[in-house]
Amino acid sequence: MTKLLSLLVIGVLMFSFFAPKKAIAQEAVKTIVLPAVQKEGGMPLMEALDQRHSSRSFAKTELSDQTLSNLLWAAWGYNRDELKKRTAPSSMNKQEISIYLTLEKGLYLYNAEKHILELIKSEDLRAITGKQPFVGSAPLNLIFVANTKKQSSATSSYANVGFISQNVYLFCASEGLGTVVRGWFNADKVHKTMGLTEHQSLILCQTIGYPKK
Ligand SMILES: Cc1cc2nc3c(=O)[nH]c(=O)nc-3n(C[C@H](O)[C@H](O)[C@H](O)COP(=O)(O)O)c2cc1C
Repeated sequence: MTKLLSLLVIGVLMFSFFAPKKAIAQEAVKTIVLPAVQKEGGMPLMEALDQRHSSRSFAKTELSDQTLSNLLWAAWGYNRDELKKRTAPSSMNKQEISIYLTLEKGLYLYNAEKHILELIKSEDLRAITGKQPFVGSAPLNLIFVANTKKQSSATSSYANVGFISQNVYLFCASEGLGTVVRGWFNADKVHKTMGLTEHQSLILCQTIGYPKK
């Protein structure tokens, strides 16, 4: 009887060890405190310019919090805290652009002042940010949104996003990441799904991920 019982216990233990594990869905954390930015290193600028290109084929590999931290700072972080000025210029220093991120675990807003990510929606909204198939499976899409109360000129906002986007291109070239800036998306659908206000206007999106091997 004792032998039978121990056999049963061993059986249960072996089953729980070898049974196929269900993929655990990633939980969306309300606030992601990004690690301190690493401002040293990287590729020399002329080499990064030589490597810059658009990619449309991405591996599913996620970006680490450190890579996100460095990427977002390079894109649109504060590089002169005392003056509240940033890594990209903006027309009349209006700084009207916000960067939203679609990760598998949710939609986040980059708060550059605190260098954190704030959860907006705990849904995987990657696929809505574009009409090309890679958009939904790449680990990250940035969505550049203008605050039209701060800057009423759409032309200026497009120019301002151009600088941020090029910072992302150069960071990606330096880090061996792939990226493509995108204007082909359903603006109304993205605007509605993200829950943006009437004073927020979508400018461009940018997909980022490691190149598919
Ligand atoms: C404003 C703008 C919008 C773009 N929109 C898209 C897009 O929706 N989808 C896409 O695959 N590429 C898009 N691109 C990327 C261009 O197709 C790409 O930059 C161009 O083919 C040159 O290639 P390169 O970036 O490798 O030099 C866009 C580029 C810019 C500047």
